[in-house]
Amino acid sequence: MEIIICKTKEEASRKAADLVAALLKAKPTAVLGLATGSTPVPMYQALAKDCAAGKISFKKAKSWNLDEYLGLPPTHDQSYRYFMDKNLFDHIDIDKKNTHVLNGLAKDWRKEVKSYEAAIKKAGGIDLQVLGIGSDGHIAFNEPGSSLTSRTRIVSLTPQTIKDNARFFKKAADVPKQALSMGVGSIMEAKRIVLLAFGANKADAVKGAVEGGVSQFCTASALQMHPDCWFFCDEAAASKLKLKKYYAWRAEEALKAELA
Ligand code: F6R
Repeated sequence: MEIIICKTKEEASRKAADLVAALLKAKPTAVLGLATGSTPVPMYQALAKDCAAGKISFKKAKSWNLDEYLGLPPTHDQSYRYFMDKNLFDHIDIDKKNTHVLNGLAKDWRKEVKSYEAAIKKAGGIDLQVLGIGSDGHIAFNEPGSSLTSRTRIVSLTPQTIKDNARFFKKAADVPKQALSMGVGSIMEAKRIVLLAFGANKADAVKGAVEGGVSQFCTASALQMHPDCWFFCDEAAASKLKLKKYYAWRAEEALKAELA
């Protein structure tokens, strides 16, 4: 695990975007795993800027998203398909046919998740997976208690996540209670993982993920066992880490080597 700690979320997002850009330059057909939520937005903006400037292209890239609310149509302004179009896909040169988000209206969710995983496999697996982290340590919608070997499936959101996400809806009662989500085991298959965490409300989750024991009670802690995982945090999100100085010293060199 490499922990990059930056003064601001903009700086951290720019550095994370540099890793994505480096991948696209080295492998224009890259398979990206994407996340929604407020956290990746500045990184998506940085990538859109690079694309507009002709520095990178998504023309040959493919993407699969982590999750989707159950029961929301893609046209709903809180669906994750809608979010991805508005926050990234509409601003880059990706072919939307190559972007995939789980179908929250699927009549048979088992069939939906099976074909989703099969399509990722057929594409060669995810080269780089972007992640946010929930205040309870979840990745995708793998809430505390999710198996660390879980696959893409139907999940129930915790009251905490519903509360956290209520800010995007008119009222908490409008937040769907279930979702389709890639599992921890599915996420762990990505070749590289880039997790972003910003703000003091993520400090406990980051502490648990990086320095806690590996446990299904903080599903992000599974990432400790991933061979190529990068955390990009602002100072507030990293504030509870015990070994902050050591990570900073080590990560600077690691990132330099990556982008050389
Ligand atoms: C989104 C996702 C979630 C979020 C997490 C943090 O696709 O899978 O795990 O990354 O809930 O959300 P924000 O970024 O809104 O704090």
